[in-house]
Amino acid sequence: MISTEKGSWLTPAIKSQAEQLLSRMTLEDKVGQMTQYDWGFNPINPETGVSQRDLLREEIRLGRVGSIFNLSGAEEANELQQLIQDNTELRIPLLIGRDVIHGYKTVFPIPLAQASAWNPELARKTAEAASRESMADGVAWVFAPMIDVSRDPRWGRIAESIGEDPLLTSDYAKAWVEGAQVDDGPGLAAASCPKHFAGYGLAEAGRDYNTVDLSDRVLREVILPPFKEAVESGALSIMASFNEINGVPVCANPYLLKTILRGEWGFEGIVASDYNALQELITHGVAGSEEEACERTVLAGCDMDMHSGIFIRHLPKLVREGRVPESVIDQSVLRILAVKIKLGLIEKPFVEAVAPEAAAVARAGFTELAREAARESIVLLRNENSLLPLSKDGQSIAVIGPLADNSKDPLGCWAFDGKPEDVVSMLAGIRQAAGASAIQFAEGCAIADASEEGFAQALEAARQADVVVMALGESLEMSGESRSRTSLDLPGAQRRLVEEIAALGKPVVAVLLSGRPLALPWLEEYADAIVQAWHLGVQSGSGIADVLFGDYNPGGRLPVTFPHNIGQVPIYYYRKKTGRPPAGVYSSYYIDSTTEPLYPFGYGLSYTTFSYGPVVTSRTTMKADGVLVAYVMLENTGCREGEEVVQCYVRDEVASVTQPLKKLIGYQKVKLAPGESAVVSFSIGAKELAILDGDMNWTVEPGDFTLWIGPNASQGESVSIKVER
Ligand code: NOJ
Repeated sequence: MISTEKGSWLTPAIKSQAEQLLSRMTLEDKVGQMTQYDWGFNPINPETGVSQRDLLREEIRLGRVGSIFNLSGAEEANELQQLIQDNTELRIPLLIGRDVIHGYKTVFPIPLAQASAWNPELARKTAEAASRESMADGVAWVFAPMIDVSRDPRWGRIAESIGEDPLLTSDYAKAWVEGAQVDDGPGLAAASCPKHFAGYGLAEAGRDYNTVDLSDRVLREVILPPFKEAVESGALSIMASFNEINGVPVCANPYLLKTILRGEWGFEGIVASDYNALQELITHGVAGSEEEACERTVLAGCDMDMHSGIFIRHLPKLVREGRVPESVIDQSVLRILAVKIKLGLIEKPFVEAVAPEAAAVARAGFTELAREAARESIVLLRNENSLLPLSKDGQSIAVIGPLADNSKDPLGCWAFDGKPEDVVSMLAGIRQAAGASAIQFAEGCAIADASEEGFAQALEAARQADVVVMALGESLEMSGESRSRTSLDLPGAQRRLVEEIAALGKPVVAVLLSGRPLALPWLEEYADAIVQAWHLGVQSGSGIADVLFGDYNPGGRLPVTFPHNIGQVPIYYYRKKTGRPPAGVYSSYYIDSTTEPLYPFGYGLSYTTFSYGPVVTSRTTMKADGVLVAYVMLENTGCREGEEVVQCYVRDEVASVTQPLKKLIGYQKVKLAPGESAVVSFSIGAKELAILDGDMNWTVEPGDFTLWIGPNASQGESVSIKVER
């Protein structure tokens, strides 16, 4: 039986349709539904000459496949769905998946960039657009959002994340799930698949796939809240992560999959394994055979096997031998069928071709959204003497660097459906925007090459110019899955190039196109302005130009702490005090580095300035179940309209369990005209003040709390409040 709680997506009608289908299925049919393959992986057997796809076609005809991913378009999707319709008795369509992480054909900024907008509604729109585009190709299951809280910029997958904060990540999780699953009736656009459940972002030493060992406290305080939010927002599936957590790989981890996900949260959707993760139980050394891996994962609560084929090879036998109860299989299959029914696949397995004119109109809308997303994702880190915005009139600009005339790398780490020819490069964006200004371009050096051959040409271009704009950073292959780094510096000869250009004494703007926070404290000596532009997708150059020339006033803020050096990593704002004194030789510090970040979490500048008044509260004491309101007067004290992200943090001063120095409990993005003021308020109650006590219960403990309202995690006005007994 599957439950049909009130308000759940699992209505009695869906449930009964799923149960009717199940009653007509053989054991092999059932396990087939629990089996998923990668269509993109197509080796040819050298002995038989048979390709993997031919084998899969046969498996599909036999009804031994429930899901496929990595297809390339509507035609292929329809061809495979047709195989099911023509050859199987029950005609249960394939659930077709894809890594639609930051856009499909229209590539949007990487998630870490979108997080910099501190605007979950933006992510809702991009997720919705991506699902509409992918659905038109028959992809009804998007493996997103990626909501692993990440504190380590060495880890390449930080690019796919929302950064380091549980609240910001939770808000994006909700918007992303709802956006991806937009209701286009009769079914949803697509099912989302929040991932990677759980703890994957805390891989030791930032090395992808590495061991994760973390306390139940960190798990429940930091890692799980975004997943809980995703479940409450109606996510139809969840992907179990590759990693082990406290000794047990997640797809075989009943504590995570059963006790927490199903038991505590009532999750009703599909739990899918990550790629070949069942096979990896053997490599991890927790299963001695495929059979054992199969038994462990299915009993732990995993419903679908991504690509290993272990379920289909072993599960029927294990059921017949009584090692796995058939009722467990039935539960998994009911979930999978329910999702297929919810998506409307049973009635409509095929996708219809969209008229080219309608497709072009839709694409234009998505491209406009991509530009909005690109410019909103940009964070202004430094702007000495208000060098930015640049004038479009009459000055000469040298555009230098390996990421300027580059339309590949702005696509970012998960953009295999995006095309470089659709990307507006930074150089093209500047050329489009610069009006009467003269633009000179020189690459200077490659991204990761030590050669300085191109320096002379770049120096010549810079000499001719009034201002130099440098496009620096990382290639798209330097972040994302399996792309961890041990250096957070600019690769190749880029630093040397900056040093030489800056020695000319011209004003320098450094634009950083990267998939992770880089640690570049030295850059401040050379660049008057620094713009964190990330990998921004197809409208990268237009978004950057909008910011550089002031058509858009940057309002992005960092969703992750920027370190001074790699030795400080992991460095994040949600850290604890130690018992040591604040300064002195036996305090907690480094003998060779500051402990402060280079740019704190929440930081970002604007072309205008904002001033904060004192923080005022509606009352200074409250009951544990009461509510108070904290206010601040915010004023735009500059000469332009601009947006400020007003952030509210709390600290429980004395608690039964040590607490973070600060915890983000609210934020608001406020737009003000020059000279305009607004009162910004935050409502503070049990949700904001609760801590996880020694018994792992969320409780508000009486005592003193400090509240801050300010522009980032390191600044802000504070006020004390008391929770009474
Ligand atoms: C492995 C990755 O960890 C996961 O994020 C992705 O969805 C799958 N491969 C499928 O490509």
